[in-house]
Amino acid sequence: MSEEHPIPISVVRLGEDVEQLLLEVVRSGIIAQGPKVKQLEDTFASMIGVEHVVAVNNGTTALIAAMDVHDLQAGDEVITSPFTFVATLNAILAAGATARFADISVDDFNVTAASLAALVTDRTKALLPVHLYGQSAAMAPIADLATAHGLSLIEDAAQAHCATDDGRFAGSWGTGCFSLYATKNLTSSEGGLISTNDAAIADRLRVLRNQGMRQRYQYEMVGNNFRLTDIHAALCIPQLAAYEDQLKKRRANAQRLNEGLTGIEGLRTPVELPGREHVWHQYTVLVDESACLGRDAMIDALTAAGIGCGIYYPKLVHDYDCYRNHPGVVIDETPTAAAVAGQCLSLPVHPYLTEGELDRIVTTVRGLCGS
Ligand SMILES: Cc1ncc(COP(=O)(O)O)c(C=O)c1O
Repeated sequence: MSEEHPIPISVVRLGEDVEQLLLEVVRSGIIAQGPKVKQLEDTFASMIGVEHVVAVNNGTTALIAAMDVHDLQAGDEVITSPFTFVATLNAILAAGATARFADISVDDFNVTAASLAALVTDRTKALLPVHLYGQSAAMAPIADLATAHGLSLIEDAAQAHCATDDGRFAGSWGTGCFSLYATKNLTSSEGGLISTNDAAIADRLRVLRNQGMRQRYQYEMVGNNFRLTDIHAALCIPQLAAYEDQLKKRRANAQRLNEGLTGIEGLRTPVELPGREHVWHQYTVLVDESACLGRDAMIDALTAAGIGCGIYYPKLVHDYDCYRNHPGVVIDETPTAAAVAGQCLSLPVHPYLTEGELDRIVTTVRGLCGS
């Protein structure tokens, strides 16, 4: 084990402003859904340029609620990415719908319009791109595809708060689903946000999250308890004002890592594609067979050197016994995603990295790669 202090892959650091707001909420006596939830919704809506944001209790329920209000039903097909966190797939299956998988681009790790288009049939009801690691998918052609075929567009923006493509924010093209889990760029410990420009969808989401009630004991639809609390909202609200600065640090860190790690045999550094603003939730390199150390050996060596790292994600999302033979899962060939799952390795990029830590990450990776 390294003598030097460990560098974690992510850090949660909440300031005195959060402590004060939490105290205010606790003292107010309104600790369930209340004015702080509304403030969080309205502030985030203006940050990503949408008309409505509805807060829910986590990112998975954001996706489940989105499926519900888009009327997804048994037999409907939803095309998504096979290279994602399992919540994306679980939400499709919770709706009783069928998941299909489009291949990704190695440049941004996201599904492409062409790979989605190849799977559209008359059973397709929705497209569900995932904006992985903090970079938006190429959304304009995906939105065009959805419009051309009359499909719902649900975006898994769990990792992409304020990422943009062509000047438009992730989550502003269709129904956007964000996570506020502890390690996300913005957090309420657990929490989720759903964005939309469609007033009818927003209205249904608000009723759905509150047991189908607009007024007490007047049920309009089969609902659920998906409510966020003011305690959770208070954790997140102060982070919104500080987010631009945090993003600057994430960007500078990613640039520094890219400069330091460029030109290593067998190691591909991540790119921010033209016209996009990456929010660097993860900094993910690809380690191929020409590298002098394999991906898994590199993970072990980095861990021993005290450098936090992770594999997001080690397998395609359907490549587990519980999904492989599931009637709601149709496995399509996705060679790029399969290759990327075997090569991806994420390094720390969080905003609290010091100059010395960034140097240590670069030197350690270079040392392991013999360069
Ligand atoms: C891509 C993706 N989708 C969905 C989720 C689910 O969010 P939550 O953990 O808040 O339920 C996550 C969270 O890790 C995620 O990374």
